Amino acid sequence: MDSVPPVQELEQAIPDIAREDRIEPRERTIDDLGIGGSVGHFKRYVVRQCIGEGGMGRVYQAFDPVLRRDVAVKVMRPDVPEPERRRFRREAIFGARFCHPSIVRIFDMGEHRSDDGRRVEWFSMEHLPGSDLERVLGRAMSHGRRLPLLSVVDIFRQVLSALQYCHECYVVHRDVKPANIFVTRDPNTRFLTTKLLDFGIALDLDGPAQHEVLCGNPFYMAPEQTRHGAQIDARADVYAAGLSFYEVLTGRHPLDDFRAAPLETVLSAQSKFAMKPPSALLPPSTSPRIAQAVDMIFERATAKDPDDRFQSARDMREAMLVFLSPV
Ligand SMILES: Nc1ncnc2c1ncn2[C@@H]1O[C@H](COP(=O)(O)OP(=O)(O)O)[C@@H](O)[C@H]1O
Ligand SMILES: [Mg+2]
Repeated sequence: MDSVPPVQELEQAIPDIAREDRIEPRERTIDDLGIGGSVGHFKRYVVRQCIGEGGMGRVYQAFDPVLRRDVAVKVMRPDVPEPERRRFRREAIFGARFCHPSIVRIFDMGEHRSDDGRRVEWFSMEHLPGSDLERVLGRAMSHGRRLPLLSVVDIFRQVLSALQYCHECYVVHRDVKPANIFVTRDPNTRFLTTKLLDFGIALDLDGPAQHEVLCGNPFYMAPEQTRHGAQIDARADVYAAGLSFYEVLTGRHPLDDFRAAPLETVLSAQSKFAMKPPSALLPPSTSPRIAQAVDMIFERATAKDPDDRFQSARDMREAMLVFLSPV
């Protein structure tokens, strides 16, 4: 069990530390907003270029002329059916609720009329210069290179911390994969940072029960996600993080041989296929200590039975830091 973090000690010592203070303005003045009224303005983002494409729509880079910064605007194709539209809105609303350095920040949501009069829904978020891990990996592989172990550990340290945060908010991401992990630079410090994207199919464990069984990419889906009626929890994200870790580290997905297989075969492989340990694909110069640790972390993250897995993203992150940090 974790020791009590200092912030909790502080809360215990001063129970109302996070109390919201309200003050009565001394007098009415011209800047009085009037409690109960509303305030706002109409903002238009200037769309610059398309920077990403996914299942339901596109992502554009745009400029916010009021705050003078770039933003990313994700739009949904107008022909998308209503259940997906609801998910899209939920993605923005979930995202707007989170506040974590490794989760993309959501700013605003709205809708736009296309030239032919159709409703195009959109939301804006922080613009991330850089690439998602799928593209980073593709580029490295096309040059016959791999991503260095320490960089991979640093990326996953951040992803797992973001996942731990959403799990503490009772949200399971359900779509953890390299394409939804973004590597960018902090605009102020210029340090490489990682951001978790795309809460489009996230599951709200605190919300009304949902009965969607198949949700996510079959190549990253935990066995319990395909079992009819099975409850899924944070450990499904740990599983997907384990598969993504393998793929990013070795340049191969453990189920690559099933790429052309039908969906049911891939899902059945997730439940039954014994995946090759990642160390088999690491360079021969890898030390036995590191090779063993990589295999152990992969095996514990992707155990078929969720009870045999790391029980939380935090446990997986700690194992990475303990066993894979530079000596
Ligand atoms: N905030 C952002 N800044 C820069 N690129 C982004 C941003 N959000 C998404 N992208 C790019 O667009 C791609 C698709 O976005 P994503 O949110 O994953 O959409 P989908 O739900 O369609 O998969 C991502 O893989 C990424 O490359
Ligand atoms: Mg995506």
